[in-house]
Amino acid sequence: MNKSALHEVATALGAPGKGILAADESTPTITKRLAAIGVESTPATNNAYRDLLFTTPGFEQYISGVILFEETLRQSTVEGGVPYPEHLSKLGVVPGIKVDKGAKPLAGCPGDKVTEGLDGLRDRFAAYYELGARFAKWRAVISIEGEAVPSTTGLRANAHALARYAALAQEAGLVPICEPEVLMDGEHSIERSGEVTEAAITELYAALREQKVFLEGTVLKPNMVVSGYDGAGRAGVDEVAAATLACLKRCVPAAVPSIVFLSGGQTEVEATVHLDRINEMKGDDAPWNLSFSFGRALQQTALATWGGDDAKIDAAKAAFLHRARCSGLATLGDYSEAVEAEWKPGS
Ligand code: 13P
Repeated sequence: MNKSALHEVATALGAPGKGILAADESTPTITKRLAAIGVESTPATNNAYRDLLFTTPGFEQYISGVILFEETLRQSTVEGGVPYPEHLSKLGVVPGIKVDKGAKPLAGCPGDKVTEGLDGLRDRFAAYYELGARFAKWRAVISIEGEAVPSTTGLRANAHALARYAALAQEAGLVPICEPEVLMDGEHSIERSGEVTEAAITELYAALREQKVFLEGTVLKPNMVVSGYDGAGRAGVDEVAAATLACLKRCVPAAVPSIVFLSGGQTEVEATVHLDRINEMKGDDAPWNLSFSFGRALQQTALATWGGDDAKIDAAKAAFLHRARCSGLATLGDYSEAVEAEWKPGS
């Protein structure tokens, strides 16, 4: 294992001012996203959409890495036919790959899911490295339902799978992004969200240690600690930032270089405002880069602006660049309403 190369990539992914574009929607998810704009998902339309994002002039100022779905890892730019891993690397953007096979119900634990995909992963990693991927993502899905879900069994099963994946990734020379996503669907309080997030991350680091994972060569991708989306009296921005920072300080070792938040079901602006406040409030006792690995919060407006219309590609690129810039500024605590207002849909 080349520890210094892993540490270098793990640090670069969260470099100040930059973060990750999660463009690794699985086939069912990209089908849903494209259907929402009236486009049928095929390998060609998926490629056209991803090409729009990856050929946006200047996006590399704000984007450190891109997570790809396996189909995209093997595809190429529309003009010039340059394989995406090569195209991205040339821009200084690290190509990554989603490797999990999705979450399935966990036997014996109603309401809990466990993520599959470990079988054959060593061979898949060798192929992905060969194709140019230098980091990977595995997502565990944790629901909150009353007091019983998630169960400790569910948290441990997911932590174990994440740690087995992380060890295999490092063996193959890829930085593992570990994503224990606590879903925010439901009416739960921000306190319950914090309690479950802390338990999930604590189990994760116990398992990573057990599986002898080199923490300096890993990245954590957590949810922000917010109130359940359907609850009344949801917590405000300061409360979200404080609860998220408190949670991370309790359970993420200082050896971890970068923490990159997912956006979940937050709007683009909500996710950006929260990330900005987290960075404003982080203080000297938060030793990590605190950045983003957004999917929807970088793509929503761009996708809607494109709408499958070639004439709208440039406008969609402008929408994506705006979100990337706003998110990049939020990693520095430099985002503002004035920056947000510098671009409007349709401009
Ligand atoms: P969202 O930011 O849309 O939640 O996607 C991030 C991601 O990669 C989820 O696995």
